[in-house]
Amino acid sequence: MGIESAPLLERFPFPFQGDSYRYSNNSTALVPPVCTDITPEYYEEIEEKRRLLELYPERTFQALPHTMEAQWEIMAMLMNELAMVHSNYFTLDKTGNRWTFYNRLLDEECTFVFGDCSTLPYEPLKFIGRHVQEDLIYLQQRDGDLYMDAGQLCFPANWSLAFDLGMTYLQFHSPVPIYSDSGLAEKVRGFLLRMEAGKPWTRLNWTLNVGPRLDTSTEAFDEWGAGKFGLNLDNVGQIMHFRTEDQRLFRIPGSNGILFSIHTHLLPFNQLIDNKVWANRFCKVLEDLPDPIAEYKGFISYKPLLIEYLRRYS
Ligand code: HEM
Repeated sequence: MGIESAPLLERFPFPFQGDSYRYSNNSTALVPPVCTDITPEYYEEIEEKRRLLELYPERTFQALPHTMEAQWEIMAMLMNELAMVHSNYFTLDKTGNRWTFYNRLLDEECTFVFGDCSTLPYEPLKFIGRHVQEDLIYLQQRDGDLYMDAGQLCFPANWSLAFDLGMTYLQFHSPVPIYSDSGLAEKVRGFLLRMEAGKPWTRLNWTLNVGPRLDTSTEAFDEWGAGKFGLNLDNVGQIMHFRTEDQRLFRIPGSNGILFSIHTHLLPFNQLIDNKVWANRFCKVLEDLPDPIAEYKGFISYKPLLIEYLRRYS
């Protein structure tokens, strides 16, 4: 079944509004209030997600036992949304507690008893994660703080769910320079603690990727980390990819936690330069970017090469 969509360059979520970038609470109200996007990359990304979930179960899925209720709540929210918003691809039939979820894209059907784990092949967060391109992180709110207590994560930008599990919001952000030690992380946490049901938020995060690889987990660093060696003006356009994370935040009212979804998009530099406004703006952002941010994002050693490439072609 085909998925119709605009060309990549027209639908790519480019994050910069101006010629300079600093960490800030760049969250805005999410309109429409929808978590899932289905793009033409659906088939290859779902195949890759499922491959990683099978091969590396601990790297890609973690959930503390007390999150089971929240997992059911998230799965119900996403199944309802898929059947309503993407009704050409998904249906959901409910007869009492007996639910049948049908994914037309994959021609897969599953009938289960809502709330009864023995009737589902996976834990609910993992089950629904196998049908959507988004990675799904659940934060539990308690004692005036937020804890990363569950997640289905296949495409992290160099972080580890297994390592972060159970950490507070400030703890798992502690590697981020400026954000973690300027008071900004505390402010954003306050904002998240006050988030209301039915009023979701969204923000874009960005970084750079060597190659088209979505799984840049810390655990697999030995497979992708060395890619930055050997970059030059002739190959950088093909090898380097701009990486945007479309992040969305939802209050999960029954469990009073937060669902944080991440949809990752990649755009090769040699396509990015076809949009001269973006290429020019990105070049200025790089020229102006504080070193700690470039270092954290992992490209400080070849930032001059990127600037030279963008100057030449934009
Ligand atoms: C509430 C759900 C959120 C979760 C689960 C989350 C999780 C994370 C994680 C795991 C990292 C990587 C840290 C590392 O290097 O180990 C990160 C980075 C970061 N987060 Fe969050 N985050 C959330 C919300 C936010 C929000 C609302 C902001 C708003 C400003 C934010 C700002 C940042 C920034 C600036 C970075 C550094 C990213 C980069 O430069 O590439 N986060 N986040």
